Amino acid sequence: MSHDVPTRSCLSPATRVSTCAVLEARLRDTLDLHGQFRAAHWNVRGPRFAPLHGLFEEIAGSLLAHADDLAERAGALGRIVHATVRAAAAGSGLPEPPADLTAEDAWLDHLAGALAALSRSLHADIAAADAARDPVTADLLTQMAADIDKRLWFIESHRAR
Ligand SMILES: [Fe+2]
Repeated sequence: MSHDVPTRSCLSPATRVSTCAVLEARLRDTLDLHGQFRAAHWNVRGPRFAPLHGLFEEIAGSLLAHADDLAERAGALGRIVHATVRAAAAGSGLPEPPADLTAEDAWLDHLAGALAALSRSLHADIAAADAARDPVTADLLTQMAADIDKRLWFIESHRAR
């Protein structure tokens, strides 16, 4: 089964293949992390329930918007996107959620680590997109990285010192 459909995109076929592999990898990470933020939103318990419940939902919504941007960029480059929940779960490079799905600090530490891992991947991907002379993908990834870094700040700022 082909992963690609014909397109008049100005990027070379080799660039499109490598760029779409990156976009799909980050898409799977992002969908996985969206699900994890939802699980945190639904399950967290404790004295900070109200702010954390709301924060986790806000970030989950942001991740879903990023997932859409990643998938549609891949689509614009001729990619058939394989990113069902099953594919995302199998292909994500992010760590598993904490064993205790209710603990506030365990969730905050875990989600901070996952956001930081996603940020690291995005920064490497930006450099790769620049090297491949794909400024549109580099810009999309840069905007996403800026938001992910901001969300990491929000999560870290809720952690008791
Ligand atoms: Fe909700």
